Amino acid sequence: MNGVNDILDLSVEELDELLATAEDITVNPQKYANLLRGKKLATLFFEPSTRTRLSFEAAMYELGGNVLGFSEAQSSSASKGESVADTARTVSCYADIIAMRHPKEGAPKVADMNASVPVINAGDGGHNHPTQTLADLLTIKREKGRLNNLTIGLCGDLKFGRTVHSLIAAMSRYENIHFVLISPEELRLPEYVKDDYFTNGACTYEETRSLENAMGKLDILYMTRVQRERFFNEEDYVRLKDTYILDEEKMALGKEDLVVMHPLPRVNEISVKVDKDPRACYFKQVLNGKYMRMALILKLLGVKA
Ligand code: NCD
Repeated sequence: MNGVNDILDLSVEELDELLATAEDITVNPQKYANLLRGKKLATLFFEPSTRTRLSFEAAMYELGGNVLGFSEAQSSSASKGESVADTARTVSCYADIIAMRHPKEGAPKVADMNASVPVINAGDGGHNHPTQTLADLLTIKREKGRLNNLTIGLCGDLKFGRTVHSLIAAMSRYENIHFVLISPEELRLPEYVKDDYFTNGACTYEETRSLENAMGKLDILYMTRVQRERFFNEEDYVRLKDTYILDEEKMALGKEDLVVMHPLPRVNEISVKVDKDPRACYFKQVLNGKYMRMALILKLLGVKA
């Protein structure tokens, strides 16, 4: 029931509203502390997660609400063969809103079509991850002061990386966005994503294999993990996993006001030495994710401060 499956389910005006609410939460948290008393969020996670699930939970608690759910498919009736549709109908009887992560593309959408409460897509296979994009948008807005006129480098696994797909969708609605797609041949951005967002000329792109060559022109560098769980064989993963490692030498090639982002978890893609560089914003991104999820839950439940 009218949850958020794709970042494009939210208009630019609605995104502006969410960004404004999130900013207000950071300034006036007490205004929000009891708004969802008596309400329940169900977190249905059929795939591993640290940030997404816990930030949804923290978001709900900080709004005065409660949380129920499961964090692995094995502990739910999915392991007995229950369908996503039946799970969604069932959980609608217990909760006011649902956040679902699932390895199958489209599963949260099926859940939303069958639930009587809103279902939020918390990541579906290699497809979409709209609430990570909300975290990303707030981070870009806060760090750069704008969401237009940006050159954004997307680096790593652009094939299976769902956060990248949702971020491109979101940014394609702002003016003068240029993407530099940095990946090995095997992990290039899928054609369907290019067709959807690059063919109408709203934003432009170039593709390269070299992070070094791209560094100097970027306003934002969005690093990603090679998505091991989506590979068909371990050999390919091992060969590709360390293609890009952002270290101090590469950071020296970047602009002074570069913003480095990563949805996390990181494996090897960013050297821990980069963490102390003021341009490293990935842990700020984590916190921004909680504020944006608070704003989204309030919006979907129709509650205003
Ligand atoms: C991302 C995901 O699950 O797609 N993690 C997250 O939610 N922050 C990125 C990843 O797992 O690589």
